[in-house]
Amino acid sequence: MEENNNGNDVLIKVENLKTYFFLDEGTVRAVNGVNMAIKRGKTLGVVGESGCGKSVTARSILRIVPRPGRIVEGEITLYRTLEAEGKSCALSEEVKLTDLKPMSAEMRAIRGCQIALVPQEPMMSLSPVHTVGNQILETILLHQNVSKAEAREQAIEVLAMAGMPQPARTLDQYTYELSGGMRQRCIIAMALSCHPSLLIADEPTTALDVTTEAQILKIMRGLQDELGMAIMYITHNLGVVAQMADEVAVMYMGKIVEQADVDTIFHNPRHPYTRALLQSIPRLGQETRDKRRLASIRGMVPDPYALPQGCPFNPRCDVAIAGKCNVEEPTLVEVEPGHLVQCFTAT
Ligand SMILES: Nc1ncnc2c1ncn2[C@@H]1O[C@H](COP(=O)(O)OP(=O)(O)O)[C@@H](O)[C@H]1O
Ligand SMILES: [Mg+2]
Repeated sequence: MEENNNGNDVLIKVENLKTYFFLDEGTVRAVNGVNMAIKRGKTLGVVGESGCGKSVTARSILRIVPRPGRIVEGEITLYRTLEAEGKSCALSEEVKLTDLKPMSAEMRAIRGCQIALVPQEPMMSLSPVHTVGNQILETILLHQNVSKAEAREQAIEVLAMAGMPQPARTLDQYTYELSGGMRQRCIIAMALSCHPSLLIADEPTTALDVTTEAQILKIMRGLQDELGMAIMYITHNLGVVAQMADEVAVMYMGKIVEQADVDTIFHNPRHPYTRALLQSIPRLGQETRDKRRLASIRGMVPDPYALPQGCPFNPRCDVAIAGKCNVEEPTLVEVEPGHLVQCFTAT
């Protein structure tokens, strides 16, 4: 048993994580040296353009990286609090998720109970042939020692918490009978059914319209206040980050290029990539018709097989220093307390 990570409030620590895909065409360094800490009860927003390694980071934490991908280096540690007679006590136990086998009983229990995933596309994790109730009940009965009647009560409770207007009725419905927003609420209810200490939300509202998105975001914020769980909120939308996150990690090409509290990211961004992302937020009332399209950042995300020399962002950067940024890769430096930047122009 370990000290409560030095009195710190860290729930999950990711250190020098590298997750690569080994393909015939070459090696994709999807996650290439990520360090992050997720604090208890707080929301870490993870932002970046499509393909920068957000989902693979999440899947690495959950240990569900698909083949031919694998974690090649680094450590992921869960600081699990021990429950004593229903109350959490000050003790925590350190579990190295990277030492567990992905399909081991312990990792499966962690995946079901402590770390839950809300994915982008709800249909992918809902069964079309079982009722909502059966699917939630199954999760509850798998992880808790309760009767079927108690599980049913709990299912109704979590559906209500996830904002389902008629939770008891929803239990008997099939997912095809529900709208996208209602399906996403079911997924959130399923995730909540085991009282996770971390909810990983991977672009959970990208497939939804703006109004439904606003409702889901409100529900998630409410749940966090109520349940005190940590959230890793993945999105390409900085507008959503502003509403959801306490801390923000900006990813580019498998690395975190800037990390700080949400106010600092918005008011004092230091990395040219973060600044470009901020400039690409549609202004209020100017929501683009297809919100999945990220407004322009000059140039293209580099080919994952052929990373540019030096800083990965240098070919697209307005302030790149010739002879430096295209030669040498900067390291992540703390420019002020709690504010990390990986850029020569920021230090
Ligand atoms: N199953 C896979 N097989 C091969 N490459 C993958 C796979 N999943 C992700 N990748 C690659 O890993 C990189 C990061 O992907 P991902 O984490 O999904 O990005 P994001 O979630 O930020 O959009 C991309 O280059 C992507 O093509
Ligand atoms: Mg993704």
